[in-house]
Amino acid sequence: MKIAVVGTGYVGLVTGVCFAETGNDVTCIDIDTQKVKSLQAGKITIYEPGLEVLFQRNQEQDRLHFTADLGEGIQDAQVIFLALPTPPGADGTADLSYILGVAKDLSQLITSYKVIVEKSTVPVGTSEKVKTVMRQRLTADLFDVVSNPEFLREGVAVDDFMKPDRVVIGLSSERARHVMERLYKPFVRQGNPILYMDERSAEMTKYAANAYLATRISFMNEIANLCERTGANVDHVRRGIGSDTRIGKRFLFPGVGYGGSCFPKDVQALHLTSKEHDYDFRILDAVMDVNTRQKHILAQKIMDYFQGDIKGRRIAIWGLAFKPNTDDVRAAPSIDIINDLLSAGAEVTATDPEAIPNFSQSFKGNVSYSEDMYDILEGADALAIITEWNEFRTPDFQRMKSLMKSPVIFDGRNIYDLEDIPEQGFYYSSIGREIISTK
Ligand SMILES: NC(=O)c1ccc[n+]([C@@H]2O[C@H](COP(=O)([O-])OP(=O)(O)OC[C@H]3O[C@@H](n4cnc5c(N)ncnc54)[C@H](O)[C@@H]3O)[C@@H](O)[C@H]2O)c1
Repeated sequence: MKIAVVGTGYVGLVTGVCFAETGNDVTCIDIDTQKVKSLQAGKITIYEPGLEVLFQRNQEQDRLHFTADLGEGIQDAQVIFLALPTPPGADGTADLSYILGVAKDLSQLITSYKVIVEKSTVPVGTSEKVKTVMRQRLTADLFDVVSNPEFLREGVAVDDFMKPDRVVIGLSSERARHVMERLYKPFVRQGNPILYMDERSAEMTKYAANAYLATRISFMNEIANLCERTGANVDHVRRGIGSDTRIGKRFLFPGVGYGGSCFPKDVQALHLTSKEHDYDFRILDAVMDVNTRQKHILAQKIMDYFQGDIKGRRIAIWGLAFKPNTDDVRAAPSIDIINDLLSAGAEVTATDPEAIPNFSQSFKGNVSYSEDMYDILEGADALAIITEWNEFRTPDFQRMKSLMKSPVIFDGRNIYDLEDIPEQGFYYSSIGREIISTK
C-alpha cells in the first residue's frame, strides 16, 4: 500500500519505518528541511534501539522516502498518517493548530479518496474537527478520518510498533476499516487484537491509558515516601502488591517522577477536557501535584545531606534522558533536579549515553558534560542517579570511590540492591528505602 506520514519525529519515523518494513511504500513528510535532508542522506535523526537497521534497509530497498513537500508526499498515498505535535497550548489544552493546519492543507491537495489517520494524541472530538475542516473543500466521498492512537514507548518503540498489545482504531466508515485492516494485519498475527470503536472512544482510550499509568507512578511515589517515614522498604511492598494479578508487576517503580513528551502533557490535557465538560476529575489533580513534588525530592535529599548548603559543592549526574534507551529529554525530571541544584549554588557535571546533545541544546544552565560516566565523578561531593541506563547498574564502585571527593550516592531510580551497598562503603540514599550510611 502507498502510505504518507506527516510529521517525522519519534512517532512518525517509527511508524513510517515499520510500515515500510511490512512491504508498504512509505513517504515521510516533515516541515523541518534539515531533518528531511538528513533522513534523505541516510542519517537517522533520533536514537531508538533497533530503528536504524530497519531505516537503512527500507531506504536501500526504495520503500522509504522523505520529503518536505506535502503535495508531493501525499500525491499517490492511499493512507495519510498525521504524527504531528500536540503540545500544550497557553492554557494547557492540546494545541491542535498543527493537526488542523495540515488538515486544511490536505483539503486543498487531495484529488482522490484517502484515509486520514490521526496518530497524534488528540482530545476527544478532534476527528470531527478534522472532518469539518476537510469538508470545507472536499466532498465526503474523497476522504475518511480515522483515529488510531499510538501506544509505543520510547526506548522500545520498534518492538511496541511491530508487536503491539493491541491496535485501537476509531472509525465510522466500512471503506476505511477495510484499508486499516489490511495495513495492520501483519502486526497482529499472534492474535493480539485490533479493537474497533467509534472515534471519540479511541481518542479517549489514549488519554485514559496514559493518565492511568501516570496515576500508578504517582501512587507508588506516595507509597515510597510513606515507606521512608515508616521504615518499610518499597522494594518489598512493590513485589508484594505486584504479585497480585489484579494489580500486575509493571509500572510500580517509584522514582523521581514521570517526565517525557507524553505523560505530563496528556494528564494535563485530560484534566482540562474534564473541566471543559464541567467534570471535576479529582484524581488527576493529585497525580499532577504528587509528580511536581516528586521531581524535587532528590535535590531536597541532597540539600538535607549537606545541611542546606551545597554552594560550591560538585554534584555529578548520571542520566539526563527522561528514561533509558532514548535521547529524549522533553519534560525530563533531570531538568528540575539540575535546576534545583544550580539555584542552590552547586556545580553540576553530567553524563548520559545518548541525551547529552539534546539536553545541552535545550538546557540553559551551566552544566559541564562528559560521555564518560567516570570522568564526571572526579572531585564530586556526591553522585545523583536520575535515569536507570543499564551501564549504571554494575559500575566499578572502587573506581568511583577513588575519583569522588566523598563516597555519596543519591539514587533516584533504586538501581542497586540495598544489601550490596554496605560492602562498597558508600553513603547511599534512594527512594522509599532505608538510607545506608557509612558516616
Ligand atoms: N513520543 C512518544 O513516545 C509518543 C507516543 C505516543 C503518542 N505520541 C503522540 O504523537 C504525536 C507526535 O509525537 P512525537 O513525539 O513524534 O513528536 P515530535 O516532536 O518528535 O515529532 C513531530 C514532528 O512533526 C513535524 N512537524 C511539525 N509541523 C509540521 C507540519 N506542518 N508538517 C509536517 N511536519 C510537521 C516536526 O518537525 C517534528 O519532526 C504527539 O501527539 C504525541 O503526543 C507520542
